[in-house]
Amino acid sequence: MKTPCNLIDGRAIAAQVLESLRPRLDRLRARGVQPGLVFVRVGEDPASRVYVERKEKTAAELGIRSLTHVLPESASEESLLALLDRLNADAAWHGILVQAPLPRHIRAERVYAAIRPDKDVDGFHPMNMGRLLIGDLGGFIPCTPAGIQELLVRAGLSWEGAHVVILGRGNIVGKPLAALLCQKAPRANATVTLCHSGTRDLPEHCRRADILVAALGVPEYVKAFMVRPGAVVVDVGVSRVPDPTRPGATRLVGDVAFAEVQPVAGWITPNPGGVGPMTIAMLMQNTVRAAEQLTA
Ligand code: GUN
Repeated sequence: MKTPCNLIDGRAIAAQVLESLRPRLDRLRARGVQPGLVFVRVGEDPASRVYVERKEKTAAELGIRSLTHVLPESASEESLLALLDRLNADAAWHGILVQAPLPRHIRAERVYAAIRPDKDVDGFHPMNMGRLLIGDLGGFIPCTPAGIQELLVRAGLSWEGAHVVILGRGNIVGKPLAALLCQKAPRANATVTLCHSGTRDLPEHCRRADILVAALGVPEYVKAFMVRPGAVVVDVGVSRVPDPTRPGATRLVGDVAFAEVQPVAGWITPNPGGVGPMTIAMLMQNTVRAAEQLTA
């Protein structure tokens, strides 16, 4: 199949980011430091299992040590917090990641606040989120927003002064991405509109976007009529839906109706193969940085 010329290849760009980490990993190794990234997964959500396995595989390819703690779905909040206390104190682990979503009986905000901010490679601790909001970019920035920024920069796209419309106000993507791109800083300085389920006339906002980021978790929500011709479309969401062509089977789709939007968009991220690999690459970058800072 011919590759459409306006596709932003997240896999290739993520590979560039990972390659750029190798000299830093070599310098750490020369000092006897192997970065360590520990994962915590609660329950058996199939998507979370796949995501953590992918992160572990990439870590292994780079020579980053990793381990996954799996807690049962019924695990108490206290037992998770006790595990995090141990991992916070263990010098072998420079980065700690608790995979979301967590079971409903566990308060995510308590969990993310319990991770040491200097090991919080997800950037979800209130201190890292707060630093991002006030424009102090020296903390850890959540991986998906950082990955979207890096992806567009490396694709040669600029949004200085442009209008970025983000769909979805979640703490993992929408809110931190809005905070990141509106900063008065290089690679930012955008005019940001953050839309959500309470937004009136949502398609109208979408049509005013120079860059439209879909992170709402609704399969194929963004249709061609919502996209200004030539706009950049970034598809973050991943959902599993029934496959109409194969009874009983499922397939993965993004938040963008790709087949109809791609001919209208100037640039578009495929899904899979767009934002996902970048999230993993930025996690590795944050982990290398954590190891550098904690062993300096
Ligand atoms: N679930 C979906 N995306 C993420 C992420 O970036 N980090 C964690 N910890 N969980 C997620």
